[in-house]
Amino acid sequence: MVLAIEKILNDEYLGRRVSIRGWIYRKRRVGKLIFLVVRDSTDIIQCVMEKNKIPAEDFKLLDKVGVESSVTLEGTLRKDDRAPTGYEIEAERIKIIGPSYNFPITRDKSDDFLLDNRHLWVRSREMNAILKIRHTVFGALHEYFREKGYYESQAPMFVTGAVEGGATLFEVPYFGKKAYLTQSSQFYLETLIFSLEKVYTVAPSFRAEKSRTRRHLTEYWHAEAEAAWYHNEDMMQDEEEMIVYIIQRVLEDRKKELEFLKRDREFLESIEKPFKKMRYEELIKFAQDHGVEIHYGDDLGADEETAITKHFDGPVFITHYPRKIKPFYHRPDPENPKVVLCHDLLAPEGYGEIIGGGERIYKLEVLLERMEENGLNPENYYWYMDLRKYGSVPHSGFGLGMDRFVWWIAGLTHIKYAIPYPRTIRRTRP
Ligand code: 4AD
Ligand code: MG
Repeated sequence: MVLAIEKILNDEYLGRRVSIRGWIYRKRRVGKLIFLVVRDSTDIIQCVMEKNKIPAEDFKLLDKVGVESSVTLEGTLRKDDRAPTGYEIEAERIKIIGPSYNFPITRDKSDDFLLDNRHLWVRSREMNAILKIRHTVFGALHEYFREKGYYESQAPMFVTGAVEGGATLFEVPYFGKKAYLTQSSQFYLETLIFSLEKVYTVAPSFRAEKSRTRRHLTEYWHAEAEAAWYHNEDMMQDEEEMIVYIIQRVLEDRKKELEFLKRDREFLESIEKPFKKMRYEELIKFAQDHGVEIHYGDDLGADEETAITKHFDGPVFITHYPRKIKPFYHRPDPENPKVVLCHDLLAPEGYGEIIGGGERIYKLEVLLERMEENGLNPENYYWYMDLRKYGSVPHSGFGLGMDRFVWWIAGLTHIKYAIPYPRTIRRTRP
């Protein structure tokens, strides 16, 4: 029986015959011996081939092929402290399934080279670890929502209106007309709460982001939720519960991967709810006190977010932004209509915004006023306005950037490492 490498890195199999399959990760010849490190999806293991102990032809072929050849291998397991994972297989049989010669990725390749070869680089141990963390984050998110009574649903990607302002809309030709790629599924989720009350979706969102930062993609994975009868505070409560749940999940299931990436696990362990809350006004003061050049009424740019959140010891909700710098759908605070009942969640350690959300306007006249203020054509939003005509309810929602969340949890330097195939202003391949 073929076993996963992770399984046999275990005293239980010492002295026993084991079979594995995978890809040659490293190879070196020392006289009559060939040392291989073989990897599969689970781990790596050293294997040694002695010239006289395996068929001559197999040894010859093995001597010729390069790293990334796929192999099946059988042999006896023993302990070896010098081996990278502490064990070694003394091979008795090896079969090359798919040979590989001159694998283009060698040591010290530039970042651009690795991005051009992302289809091959996904095999690296770094990407393997990141992709597993990403898998756990996505899985835990679904678990959380379903457990909490949210229904999963889907929204269209071809749309006719902006959610987050016209500046970052991707226009696409649509049978002689114009359509856009969606910036957010929010408005569609808002329609669905009138049927399902609590809904969520995980889908791509598209932003024609011209900025080159460590945190912007043009296509990113967006987890969005919307809940009827929820006020801003209620929404934030679910969000912090969700974030803590997912982090706990990653800490439990991805210990090895976090360790491999040298992520500070203690820091992740220290994250608890409730999260701190700061009003926008206080944030500006906090930023100024820490030497960040920013004034009341400014939106936070990538650099400011980095500078500010380096001083945070956990995620922080920022609420009550000036209405001028937030999209039209946010509900103005009845106590001070100059600000809106919204929240952004800023991740610490320099990572910055991972969630944007808030309470939605639910009265038609307020919505019309805000649309006019923003120069929007009500015709494009007829269906969004209908929600305020037929049984409107207070409601709130949010959007979590999944790639940003993975970027932070895995402690990566750039968001492009958090997604298998990043799309940025300069990159649409592979
Ligand atoms: O803050 P944003 O623009 O909010 C919305 O789209 C709301 N309609 C969401 C909602 O309430 N349903 O985007 C939400 C999150 C951000 O906090 C960020 O994490 C992520 O989406 N995001 C991006 N991630 C990667 N690349 C980009 N260009 C992103 N733009 C936003
Ligand atoms: Mg935002």
